Amino acid sequence: MVQLIRGFKDILPGEIEKWQAIEKTAEQLFEDFGYRQIRVPIMERTELFARSIGEDTDIVEKEMYTFADRGKDLLTLRPEATASIVRAYIQHKMYASDPVRKFYTIGPMFRRERPQKGRYRQFYQIDAEVFGVTSPYIDAQLIVMLSTLLARLEVSDVTAHVNSLGCPACRPGYKAALGELLASREADLCADCRRRSSSNPLRVLDCKVPACREAMADAPSLLAYLCTDCRIHFDTVQSMLTDMAVPFVTDERLVRGLDYYTRTAFELQTGALGAQSAVAGGGRYDGLVKTLGGPDIPAIGFAVGFDRLAEIAFADREPADQEPLVYIAALGEKSVAAAFGWSTRLSAAGVHCEIDFSDKSLKSQMKRANRVKAGHVLMVGDNELDKGSAILRNMATREQVDIPIDTLVESTIQYFKAL
Ligand code: HAM
Repeated sequence: MVQLIRGFKDILPGEIEKWQAIEKTAEQLFEDFGYRQIRVPIMERTELFARSIGEDTDIVEKEMYTFADRGKDLLTLRPEATASIVRAYIQHKMYASDPVRKFYTIGPMFRRERPQKGRYRQFYQIDAEVFGVTSPYIDAQLIVMLSTLLARLEVSDVTAHVNSLGCPACRPGYKAALGELLASREADLCADCRRRSSSNPLRVLDCKVPACREAMADAPSLLAYLCTDCRIHFDTVQSMLTDMAVPFVTDERLVRGLDYYTRTAFELQTGALGAQSAVAGGGRYDGLVKTLGGPDIPAIGFAVGFDRLAEIAFADREPADQEPLVYIAALGEKSVAAAFGWSTRLSAAGVHCEIDFSDKSLKSQMKRANRVKAGHVLMVGDNELDKGSAILRNMATREQVDIPIDTLVESTIQYFKAL
């Protein structure tokens, strides 16, 4: 048998109900904050991701699913959604009438990481992006919206880790200081970090190799290098989070795994997930719209790891079954033929109706009605057809009523409406 690709997974009925509930909750909340849904392709030109996420990142260096298509274009399955949304914002000149735009999207992303619990090669993100707002209030509001989402999904034990990565005015000073330190510790670093220490020293702070972590333990804090504007921006974000009672810590080591960030960067971490503790991450990327060929427009956003979220959301709730309102147990060829029309019309009218068209014994059809937890069973055989009425049984109370066959669909709908 052909098996799933490693790191990919199926989301089966039974599990999907939770995903749908999460999706609905996120959509409703985001719309209330003024976000509108956008859908972008799952494949883009490789160049788009390389230029935005950064050539020195793990994602671009090691994890992208990239291939030349038959026309020899170099294409990549998207490892994230931000780059595509920025591309769409620029390509459709969405800034022209009103640069302030808020979007969200939900869908699959692809990264060829080492699979483990909470880390997949195809995973899903719930992503939100805001364009055109410089104010730190939007940074804080975005984080509050994200915390609200997690609270509504009954995820507890969440802390926001926030940091500022500075801007083109102040980051070079920090990079230089970090570069100097790295040069003196080159021998202790992994091969990746040695390479990156001159091209992109901030990446070294994000390295997971224990030896590199140790070598960087006393690295200077970026916060000490912030310019006045970045400092005021970051202070405002933090005081708004305090005002809104969002649990957060300032995490001067947080640099995130993508290069496009400026100023505010954040991650929501929870103890409930084990090693893969980040349930969401995001930040400001004020330079990216311009880098990708658009006007100089600031932006900020985040993505929630849907798979990780689904593991911890609604932890105390039983998985919901899709229980049919009515099961039609039809006995005999004539009844099955009539039940085809009834069941199809009932479902089309919005009454969840189940039937197996099997013409099996009443006992075996009742067994299946029980297995699928049908609330009612509509029984019809030759006798009922002759009599002109079917029997509708409430499975919980065992009460039975007669339903006239010539108006069966309408009468059944009426019966349920009156319940
Ligand atoms: P990211 O931190 O790379 O950021 O991913 C966001 C979240 O996606 C992570 O916190 C994690 O929950 C989930 N995630 C990432 N990789 C995997 C994986 N292999 N398996 C399961 N879940 C995973 C971004 O992608 C940015 N685009 C976020 C952003 C939006 N920044 C600004 N706007």
